[in-house]
Amino acid sequence: MKKSFLNTFGEKGILLDPSAIEILMGLRDAEECAERIIKDSGNRPLVLTKEDIARYACADPASVENSARRGHDRDTARTTSVGASRLPAPTRGVKVLKDITGNSTCVGNVIDFAKLFKDRYSTLKKMLSKRRELAGLMPIARARKLERDLRFAGIVNDSRSTKNGHTLIEMEDETDKIQVLVLKNSIRGNEAIFKDEVLGVVGSFSKDGKIVIAKDIIRPDVPLTSGITPNGSESVVAFVSDVHIGSNTFLDKEWSRLVGWLRKDPVAKDIGYIVMPGDLVDGIGIYPGQEDELRIDDVYAQYAALSEAIKDFPDWIQVVMMPGNHDAVRLAEPQPALSNDITSLFDPAVKFVGNPCYLEIEGRTILAYHGKSIDDFNSGARHLNYTNPEEAMKEMLKRRHLAPVYGDKTPLAPEQKDYLVINIVPDIFVTGHVHVCKLDEYRGIKLINASAWQSQTAFQRMHNQMPDPAKVPMVHLGTGDCWVESFSS
Ligand SMILES: [Fe+2]
Repeated sequence: MKKSFLNTFGEKGILLDPSAIEILMGLRDAEECAERIIKDSGNRPLVLTKEDIARYACADPASVENSARRGHDRDTARTTSVGASRLPAPTRGVKVLKDITGNSTCVGNVIDFAKLFKDRYSTLKKMLSKRRELAGLMPIARARKLERDLRFAGIVNDSRSTKNGHTLIEMEDETDKIQVLVLKNSIRGNEAIFKDEVLGVVGSFSKDGKIVIAKDIIRPDVPLTSGITPNGSESVVAFVSDVHIGSNTFLDKEWSRLVGWLRKDPVAKDIGYIVMPGDLVDGIGIYPGQEDELRIDDVYAQYAALSEAIKDFPDWIQVVMMPGNHDAVRLAEPQPALSNDITSLFDPAVKFVGNPCYLEIEGRTILAYHGKSIDDFNSGARHLNYTNPEEAMKEMLKRRHLAPVYGDKTPLAPEQKDYLVINIVPDIFVTGHVHVCKLDEYRGIKLINASAWQSQTAFQRMHNQMPDPAKVPMVHLGTGDCWVESFSS
């Protein structure tokens, strides 16, 4: 059997290190696992290690599917799995794994931007170089001396459609620039290419030797996992986004219903944490004419009102607050946590973090990002829109970057390190910003867009955007089950 596995893998160009084949042979479902490895041609590493085998062994598509289905079914999701309750409970509390707060170094000159993009390129190139399809990846200056089978990684300087409907990209690394043509009928012909994203290319030079015709476009992507496995936690994390206190469209009645539910409903007894991913208040001077839509026209008074609004949350709930594009902190991302003059208005138990932020709560990694870049993703790809932000979130994970486009709708700060690179693979990825409520899953990661507490604004009416407010998505940290509680009328 060992020989036949090695032969099959050999034919497909899959390499295994010796310990990996031993682990594979020891699996009860070795053949199914081997099949998963063969099918995952887009993502498996060049040489499979025993850790990779363990990953594929766990990645039983049936269990992934079941877990996703549970995620959409609130009633079945409430049942705690037996496996979870037998495990020891992890330590309670919120740990910030990574955010910009206290680490900002930027002074905003051109050199700083060069450092930011260099850091982005080198981190993502490292991820790409592990991809089997890019084995033998070369700097562009060296790759361009070849005629066929060029493999290189670069940052996209420019991307445009040709008059025949193909996509012409200019790419760059630290050694050179190169033109790449993605033919409209090729396997990647329909994919959106964003300015400033980092891509791997496999291709050959055209006959005149001027441009590379892409055979494949490779993105760093996240590894396939079976998702959250039980860990003994009995806590639930709830996501309350885009509260927009201060706006005259803030939903008072629905908010009171949420507070009442938190204090009385038996399910709420398990809620240990409420994470608020941005747009805590409506702010002032955020868009022209906003003053006509404000109930509270002083930003400090808005935060004081928010402080008051969460006072009746049960005291066993740890609240975590993150800024968004309406909050009183620099607009350029990564955004640091709110400053002292604002945080001092709140109970000292509230935790303030930056945007984006990686949190660890009871053994689970949560990537929280307000989601401003969804605007750029939506305007740059045909299949993305304001009703399906979970699709834009998948595009971020594929690119391992939260906001690749520089100079469009999402302002970026010239930090020396790119805090928007997704260098940690989370268990849960949450965004807000677009005011809809979505649950989904991508390669084992729970995806959440966390609704809002504001009815349709004049801006949304003008752009035909229908919000889905007053909903609270929740994740059970022990089992990974997801569901939504609705407080809408
Ligand atoms: Fe918002």
